[in-house]
Amino acid sequence: MRACCAAALGLLLAAAHSGAFAQGDAKRGAYLAKAAGCVGCHTEVKKDATPYAGGRALKTPFGTFYGPNITPHPSAGLGRWSEADFVRALRLGLRPDGAHYFPAFPYPSFTRIGDSDLRDLWVYLRTLPPSARPNQAHDLRFPFGWRFLVAGWKWLFFSPGVFAADPKRTLLVARGAYLVEALGHCGECHTARNFLGGLKHDRFLAGAAKGPDGDRVPNLTPARLKKWSDGELKGFLQTGLTPDGDVAAETMGEVIRNTTGELTSEDLAAVIAYLRSLPAIADEPD
Ligand code: HEC
Ligand code: HEC
Repeated sequence: MRACCAAALGLLLAAAHSGAFAQGDAKRGAYLAKAAGCVGCHTEVKKDATPYAGGRALKTPFGTFYGPNITPHPSAGLGRWSEADFVRALRLGLRPDGAHYFPAFPYPSFTRIGDSDLRDLWVYLRTLPPSARPNQAHDLRFPFGWRFLVAGWKWLFFSPGVFAADPKRTLLVARGAYLVEALGHCGECHTARNFLGGLKHDRFLAGAAKGPDGDRVPNLTPARLKKWSDGELKGFLQTGLTPDGDVAAETMGEVIRNTTGELTSEDLAAVIAYLRSLPAIADEPD
């Protein structure tokens, strides 16, 4: 009898535990959304814009994308989505109807986000007030507006799969790698691309001659950042002020406001430790 009760209690505890896990944690999700900068691309740039209600214009060489409404509104947002739809969108870059998302949505990085973090993000998005703001169609140059072409792009450049920590790294560096590669998607701007828009993986985080707004994006490997102390780097990622007293240009300024400036001290230290651990790659000649 006693053994039986103990077993039942064990089952109950396990159920309670997995229940807590299955429910997700909106507070953690809110932090992860910051670490991933979701709000920037999904909020119009205007005073009093509703966060996550979409309308942000993202100019690229292929045309202008408009971040969609991801509030839980039943028709204008994600109200009718299941959690599985959300996981498929971030992990595989697929719409609920099976069409491909354009990689202006940085799912090539988000595919590395772990299962429980995806669940927390989803639970957080469900807590947002629904907004009826309608989505805008993207304004893309011919033939980049053809979604089916993205299938070819993904075949060439997209490797789906969750982040796996390298056992040779310390826990701190592994956490930093996850923050930079999966959530922070820093490589989407700080890595040069080939003419088809695929990342040059052998030059990961070594800077790009032309970033999202056409300007140079600096090298984040020790080849450049060795000039900065950890304190200077931390100060920059929190405030946007460089050691010389300059202010970060707006593209990075927004990342600092929405993302790195919101990270805990431990997570910032992890990002810095990871950047320090990268192989030093010299700037690419122009
Ligand atoms: C760099 C800009 C950018 C960032 C950062 C970004 N998104 Fe998006 N997202 C987009 C764009 C652009 C699309 C539309 C892609 C398309 O139409 O093919 C999109 C689409 C989506 C969709 C599909 C919406 C629909 O109606 O089909 C979801 C869900 C989504 N994003 C969630 C997120 C979450 C969650 C985050 C943070 C973890 C995030 N996004 C961060 C740009 C971004
Ligand atoms: C949307 C594009 C974009 C993303 C995403 C992005 N950055 Fe940047 N970053 C820039 C640009 C552009 C600059 C140059 C700013 C300037 O010239 O003032 C920059 C500058 C920097 C610098 C200063 C380097 C120097 O030598 O001046 C650091 C450090 C940095 N970024 C780290 C990061 C980290 C860490 C992430 C990910 C959490 C990240 N960035 C994500 C665009 C981006």
